[in-house]
Amino acid sequence: MSTTATRVIALDGPSGSGKSTVARRLAGRLGWRYVDTGAIYRAATLAVLRRGVDLADDEAIAATVAGVRLELSTDPARPTTLLDGEDVSTLIRSPAVTAAVSAVSAVPAVRARLVGLQRELAGQDGAVLEGRDIGTTVVPDAPVKVFLDASPEIRAGRRAGDADTGVTAAEGNLVDRVATDLARRDSLDSSRATSPLVAADDAVHLDSGDLDADAVVERVLGLARAAGLVA
Ligand code: DC
Repeated sequence: MSTTATRVIALDGPSGSGKSTVARRLAGRLGWRYVDTGAIYRAATLAVLRRGVDLADDEAIAATVAGVRLELSTDPARPTTLLDGEDVSTLIRSPAVTAAVSAVSAVPAVRARLVGLQRELAGQDGAVLEGRDIGTTVVPDAPVKVFLDASPEIRAGRRAGDADTGVTAAEGNLVDRVATDLARRDSLDSSRATSPLVAADDAVHLDSGDLDADAVVERVLGLARAAGLVA
């Protein structure tokens, strides 16, 4: 059995890499909590947009996020995000939130607050956390760290089929526009000063262009067994 104190699988990667599907399936298979950290940044962003805060005003963003209550259901069968008690699970996938979330999540005071919440949500009994900085910052001692990626073309193709793309205009080729928006967000998320999107040194890299979601789940379960996290 495990001698490791931290029962966490850390799953990081860019948008469209397939993290959510894999993380939910993994948590379901293991009976563990599922913590979608992107959903928390999205709910914080919704709060900022609703207050009409200037996205260039870090202090106002931080003050707004400090003043709201953010909650997450960690049941992988029914992940739900609450903002001041309101179920905002659908609203946080809107194009407006997707377009603004990189700006809000780059504010260091926002990250400091939300990382604390994410660690609480991880609990002690087993959790799969997905995000951008789980293996580097949120749970750096996670016994299993995976960085999931795929080519920009594959990721854009996937995201074009989702509701929460960052593009709204009806003109032009959807996949092209999603690809442009993904490149913008990748660049913002990777270049911010505080815990950017970057693979931990000890993360195992998997490419979801080569493996389907179930194959990725099996690979990660194999890593979890090898680490003594699960039987
Ligand atoms: O996973 P997602 O696309 O729902 O995440 C939305 C945004 O939140 C993403 O563009 C970057 C940010 N994010 C982050 O900065 N750190 C995390 N751990 C998770 C998400």
